[in-house]
Amino acid sequence: MSEILDLAPVIPVVVIEDVATAVPMARALVAGGLPVIEVTLRTPAALESIRRIAAEVPDAVIGAGTILVPGDAAKAVAAGSRFLVSPGSTPSLIDAMGASGVPFLPGVATASEVLGLYERGLREMKFFPAEAAGGVPYLKALGGPLPGVRFCPTGGIRRETACDYLALPNVGCVGGTWLTPADALATGDYARIEKLAGEAAALQLP
Ligand code: 3PG
Repeated sequence: MSEILDLAPVIPVVVIEDVATAVPMARALVAGGLPVIEVTLRTPAALESIRRIAAEVPDAVIGAGTILVPGDAAKAVAAGSRFLVSPGSTPSLIDAMGASGVPFLPGVATASEVLGLYERGLREMKFFPAEAAGGVPYLKALGGPLPGVRFCPTGGIRRETACDYLALPNVGCVGGTWLTPADALATGDYARIEKLAGEAAALQLP
């Protein structure tokens, strides 16, 4: 998964209601400097959006989020997803994502969940829901006994707080929805999305 965690400091987590917005949105994110895009499987438009982005925006590294049940993994990869993200981890979900042939970030929120994945040889995970589960101090504490595990925290992170996470040695990148506000997608304000992406891509560590 390192090749995904290290591509950009921020992964936009996207909820697409209208498939027509998928390609211009992805182009705006790439133009702003954020090529790694997670389309969440939370809407009926998600899989077709992934298909179109994979076909029409070659510079985007498109992945699928909100992988909830084992069958989601194969569907997402068939649509063109180059990585998978889940909010939590169950044994069957990990098996399915592991068999998918693409890198994946399984979700964790506790040391025991991290260890469950660690036993399976996994070293890179999504920390979710980051802010609600304890945020920066919590992740810093996990780094004591688990220095070999790296996280992509998501959940409640905004531009103002992203740098605090990125400064931690066990954080590879952060994810969030703040790059693609629902109203910007609804009104086709892709210039705003490109600007938000540009600001995120330029984030400096404190
Ligand atoms: C996720 O699935 O990662 C979260 O829904 C991110 O959403 P947020 O950035 O709005 O908290």
